[in-house]
Amino acid sequence: MNALPPAQTEVFSALLDDLRLERKPDVRTGEIDTSYYTDENWFKQEHQQLFAAAPLVIGHSSMLQKPGDHFVHDHSGKPILVVRGKDDQIRAFLNVCRHRGVRLSNADGVANTPSFVCPYHNWIYALDGTLSKVPLQSECFPDLDKSCHGLKELPLGECEGLLFVSGDPDASINLQQQLGPIQDDFKAFRLGDHVFFRESVTTKKANWKLIIEAFLDGYHVVRLHRKTVGPMFLDGVAKSQRSGDNIMSVVARQEFERALELDRNEWDLRRHASCAFFLFPNTTIIVHPDYISYLTLFPTAANETICVHGCLIAEAPRDEKAAAHWERAYNIIEEGVFQAEDLFVCEQAQIGMNSGANDKLLFGSYESSILDFHHIIAEKMGPYTPASG
Ligand code: FES
Ligand SMILES: [Fe+2]
Repeated sequence: MNALPPAQTEVFSALLDDLRLERKPDVRTGEIDTSYYTDENWFKQEHQQLFAAAPLVIGHSSMLQKPGDHFVHDHSGKPILVVRGKDDQIRAFLNVCRHRGVRLSNADGVANTPSFVCPYHNWIYALDGTLSKVPLQSECFPDLDKSCHGLKELPLGECEGLLFVSGDPDASINLQQQLGPIQDDFKAFRLGDHVFFRESVTTKKANWKLIIEAFLDGYHVVRLHRKTVGPMFLDGVAKSQRSGDNIMSVVARQEFERALELDRNEWDLRRHASCAFFLFPNTTIIVHPDYISYLTLFPTAANETICVHGCLIAEAPRDEKAAAHWERAYNIIEEGVFQAEDLFVCEQAQIGMNSGANDKLLFGSYESSILDFHHIIAEKMGPYTPASG
């Protein structure tokens, strides 16, 4: 019996019914002010209300294989240090020395260390963040209580290997509540058994919401991607479903029609469709036939966004040939599809938006999950009004 991902199976099943009964999607259209994507004041409010304390995906636990493995993450605007301790626990800290604030680690990618030594005056921190040594302490800081000067810890949560960190030390993380049934889908896709292969970081001149929209859009797939992955998909056979603050979506591949003749336990969601999970506010997990992508967005201005695209594979490459295979598979999506097509049109749309040609953007029935995304934002921030600019 196949362990089918529960929530995605529901969407897949509904999509098959649509196909069988030749049902068209309910007509659902909407329009959004273009200034929603260019207004710096609104952007500051978004950053404060949606990002500052939110648990954001910053990597996968497989990046940190052994005690002392660590990486830094600066894209959210907070200097974050993530490390696996001697007790095997992964913790996140502000990457800031408690003496006079110097940055502790400048690791490029994943590095290993037995402890963190501040370069300025060599205060030393253990892997669990405790301050273990202060040079010349009895002369310089006779009254200093080391136990009160450990690194400032940040809330961290893990779901199937995905590491979520909040930049606010006082925030709390409840992934059970935040992810709901999507956790079961991640389990079924064995996300927790995957291993980190590589990621790329690029800065795009586009509002972060435009980029989220590109991955919720069932209308563009066979058109924008006609020279790459588009021919693998059926046109307009896509469905999505809101789940709490997240959105699950399924886009049918050419093989999808064959699923009509199969029993439920023979469905292979990865072969018959492309499944994606938008995790509010800034992450999209895309399940490709052979690996899993995570795309996390860290906006820096109304018209600028840092994009991190990571690749998770089922097992670590055994040799160079296997590594070269995964490198090619990753680049087809990263360079050929994301950069050259999806992110390219997002930057083009931002230029169009800045031109003032359109007061509104229009969304049709196959773009309706984008409207769900904007409803989620409005539930948290209230409706956008151009007057905020
Ligand atoms: S600033 Fe870090 S030891 Fe002085
Ligand atoms: Fe796309």
